[in-house]
Amino acid sequence: MINNDLNLFLSNLNVFYRKLQNYHWNIKGADFFTIHAKLEEYYDDINEQIDEVAEHILMLGGQPLGTLKDYLDTTQIKEAQNQKVCTETVFNEILKDLKTLSENATKIKEEADNENKYTTSSLMDEYLEDYSKKTWMITQMLMK
Ligand SMILES: [Fe+2]
Repeated sequence: MINNDLNLFLSNLNVFYRKLQNYHWNIKGADFFTIHAKLEEYYDDINEQIDEVAEHILMLGGQPLGTLKDYLDTTQIKEAQNQKVCTETVFNEILKDLKTLSENATKIKEEADNENKYTTSSLMDEYLEDYSKKTWMITQMLMK
């Protein structure tokens, strides 16, 4: 069911948003100023995607999950802790989460194509491009 998969995606995006802002608060080390700002850019991007996906579910006649309890009950993303964290840990976690989100978007795109839901399919293209660009840049940044 495409709406169930969109809701799982929405749930993952919401928990990922909270995780990114948690990292924005708790990042430590010499790169603090750069990474703190970069994480804010990332969670702003995700916040836009949250709104688009929820409204897209409504356009398809579905009901978006809207409570934190729903998100925590269904998410595939592991939350961050309430503690200081270093750059390498943050970006290795983000790489994992971008992979999960890419898998969600790919599955939704495949279902959408099968059901001739082309607006859903093209929305997923945007996200897949965003996640793969971020993945490439983070991978470059983590290179020794
Ligand atoms: Fe801030």
